[in-house]
Amino acid sequence: MSELSLTSTIPTNQTISVPLLGLGVWKSRPKECFDAVKSALEVGYRHIDTAAIYGNEADVGRAIDESGIKRSEIFLVTKLWNADQGFEEAQKAIDVSLKKLGTDYVDMYLIHFPVSGKRKESWKALEKIKKEGKAKSIGVSNFMVTHLKELLNETEIIPAMNQVEYHPFLQDTKLKEYCEKNGILLEAYSPLAHGQKLEDERVTKLAKKYNKSNAQILIRWSLQSGNVVIPKSKNPIRIKENADVFDFTLSQDDMKEISNWNENFRTCWDPTTVD
Ligand SMILES: NC(=O)c1ccc[n+]([C@@H]2O[C@H](COP(=O)([O-])OP(=O)(O)OC[C@H]3O[C@@H](n4cnc5c(N)ncnc54)[C@H](OP(=O)(O)O)[C@@H]3O)[C@@H](O)[C@H]2O)c1
Repeated sequence: MSELSLTSTIPTNQTISVPLLGLGVWKSRPKECFDAVKSALEVGYRHIDTAAIYGNEADVGRAIDESGIKRSEIFLVTKLWNADQGFEEAQKAIDVSLKKLGTDYVDMYLIHFPVSGKRKESWKALEKIKKEGKAKSIGVSNFMVTHLKELLNETEIIPAMNQVEYHPFLQDTKLKEYCEKNGILLEAYSPLAHGQKLEDERVTKLAKKYNKSNAQILIRWSLQSGNVVIPKSKNPIRIKENADVFDFTLSQDDMKEISNWNENFRTCWDPTTVD
């Protein structure tokens, strides 16, 4: 692990590789988002995670454009919002997102949430969107094992990735195993538990031991767990700090210890009850 870097990638099942660490921009207001993406790209991030519902796709697009970095060097992800799910609706939604982002394609397009009665049709639209080249790869978000099983029975293309809430305090190991078994990458959103567990004394103890920050311990844990990880910050100093996680390795004993911290602590929405 220690030989990895900020630009290290992991292959997907769809002939595209994903940079292991990206910047999330949920709740970043337009100006903040523009500055955050610019800072991140300057530091060396090459993976940006936005969504139609975040209302900042245009700012992400503008920051990429003004960064001077080639579009082809940046892994750009956006998501299909719930209100736009359905076969026809999803095809319109990607066009709106692309226009806001100021690009011809995204590197990955995700179904944001497994909306009942809509998700299968939405997936068919995503398959079409991929074939048309508007998304280089397609995946899902907030899909639990039941949703994935259902989808895999129907799909032509297996999702490249499943973006779910995942951190030491919410470890759905059955979901992780299912994803691994089926070649679906697990991407950890809210890897800092949305900032709500940064002061946990066990995290602080490890931060002191490794001479790193609490956030860096949580991000490093995600990486060593084999997850793609997208911490969010609007603060340039923290954006840099969150990427400075490649010069240390959590020991096997510490990884084992953290594996016992699960308390099903969910900070975002709960997809487990969606039928
Ligand atoms: N697919 C989905 O349904 C879904 C749901 C939630 C999130 N996501 C994605 O995942 C990304 C990350 O998740 P998240 O935004 O919920 O939460 P997160 O990354 O777990 O935590 C973000 C919070 O931690 C703070 N923070 C960041 N770095 C820090 C540091 N080094 N030290 C102290 N505080 C720090 C941030 O504040 P500052 O900004 O002030 O630094 C913010 O309040 C989102 O932005 C989004 O792209 C997807």
